[in-house]
Amino acid sequence: MKKLSVKLGLLFLSILFGLETTMFFFLHSTLVESRVEEELIALQTRGNSHRDILEKHFDENTISHVALMESEANTDVVITNTNNEILGASVDSSLIQRYIEKPTISSEREGKTIGDNWKEEDYISTVSPIEQNGVLIGHVYMFQDTAWIQSLISRLNEQFLIAGFVAVIFTITIIIFLSKALAKPLIKMKEATSQISSGDFSVSLPKTGDDELGDLARSIQLLAGDLNYLREERSEFLSSISHELRTPLTYIKGYADIVQKRNLSPEERNQYLSIILEETNRLSDMVKNLFDLAKIDKNTFDIIKKPIDLNEFMNKIETKFSPAFAEKGMQLSVSCPESIILSADGSRLEQIIFNLLDNAIKYSSAGDKTTVEVSRTKKHVIIRINDSGRGISEEELPFIFNRFYRVDKSRARALGGTGLGLAIVKELVHAHGGTISVFSREGDGTEFEIFLREKRKDENNTFG
Ligand SMILES: Nc1ncnc2c1ncn2[C@@H]1O[C@H](COP(=O)(O)OP(=O)(O)OP(=O)(O)O)[C@@H](O)[C@H]1O
Ligand SMILES: [Mg+2]
Repeated sequence: MKKLSVKLGLLFLSILFGLETTMFFFLHSTLVESRVEEELIALQTRGNSHRDILEKHFDENTISHVALMESEANTDVVITNTNNEILGASVDSSLIQRYIEKPTISSEREGKTIGDNWKEEDYISTVSPIEQNGVLIGHVYMFQDTAWIQSLISRLNEQFLIAGFVAVIFTITIIIFLSKALAKPLIKMKEATSQISSGDFSVSLPKTGDDELGDLARSIQLLAGDLNYLREERSEFLSSISHELRTPLTYIKGYADIVQKRNLSPEERNQYLSIILEETNRLSDMVKNLFDLAKIDKNTFDIIKKPIDLNEFMNKIETKFSPAFAEKGMQLSVSCPESIILSADGSRLEQIIFNLLDNAIKYSSAGDKTTVEVSRTKKHVIIRINDSGRGISEEELPFIFNRFYRVDKSRARALGGTGLGLAIVKELVHAHGGTISVFSREGDGTEFEIFLREKRKDENNTFG
């Protein structure tokens, strides 16, 4: 579980450790080098000032005075003549003899460093020439013991070690917090997804801000919500289906029993058989509708668009439906401007209009009027189907496109409705890339308005 935080922690730690080591190493060597450099300059300056005094008074008295002065300081002086013979010294000459014998002696006025190898040598040293009237008369050598550098280094090492230790502890603490802070929400999200996959959608993830982790958490939460909604919808749908199937099956079974067992008059027998037939038709309608919806849900529903001359199409619809309206003493009028060519799937479009007109017939009474009116805007073709039937109340209106939804269950049953007609209409309109809306007032009538986008005429499209 904690693998990620360990990995992150180790990665950060090694990177920071590498950085800190390099930094400490550079800091350490720069500090020591610059200290040695400073000491060498100070040594040289001191040598030069002795040299200045000796140039003025190059006598035994002054030489021994200079040597005496240095013997009190932590630096040492050696004064030689041009033959490298020691005239005066504040240190045992045997210790520094080899520096003086070096052929590197210079006559540079500002003096010169002759020993700066503090790692190998016991002394760092400089030399300054003594001149009188432009003639070299001797040299002032200055020495400083390198032991102080070693002690400086060991003190530095000690301090660096302490600082390094504190830094590492500090870094580790920060890393532990940081990697936990990063890994914790991820672990929570992993747990949430396992919870979701085990079927428990009631996950709640803590809000982690608006970074990528927060986005991920919100997506998981959304996914859980959607899955929950789908599950509820599915179980509702299944229970609706079983309920809807049970009713016609009960009728069929009941009447079949009666027909089989009782001695019925031919009229009664016919009456019961026609009820059985009616219910069987209803069942087969429902199964067909469910099959259509299942195909739409599975995205295996083909919408094959072809250019349709709407005027011609609507005339056919009018011819087909007028008798059904007339039979019920209702009126159907269809109006459609000429030369509207719509790219749509003809049989699906007919199914849409059929379902809406079927409703108009079912939910209106004799004397009511239904109109189908086609108009167009720049981008859309609008089909309005308006009836003066019983209308739908405001409370019911939002639900009429839901599957199996019927406003008046008992009356709808009598009218043979399954409550799937409008659900199919909505899916078909969406499959065409259109929208459908409904306006209705109880007692006044209902209007469905379909907006379909006018697309290129010869477009073929598979819905999905
Ligand atoms: N034109 C309309 N006037 C009044 N009520 C309507 C109209 N169209 C639909 N409804 C109401 O909306 C409900 C749902 O309609 P839908 O077409 O989905 O189902 P149905 O007509 O009952 O059954 P099906 O169409 O599957 O045979 C209907 O039961 C009805 O109450
Ligand atoms: Mg219907």
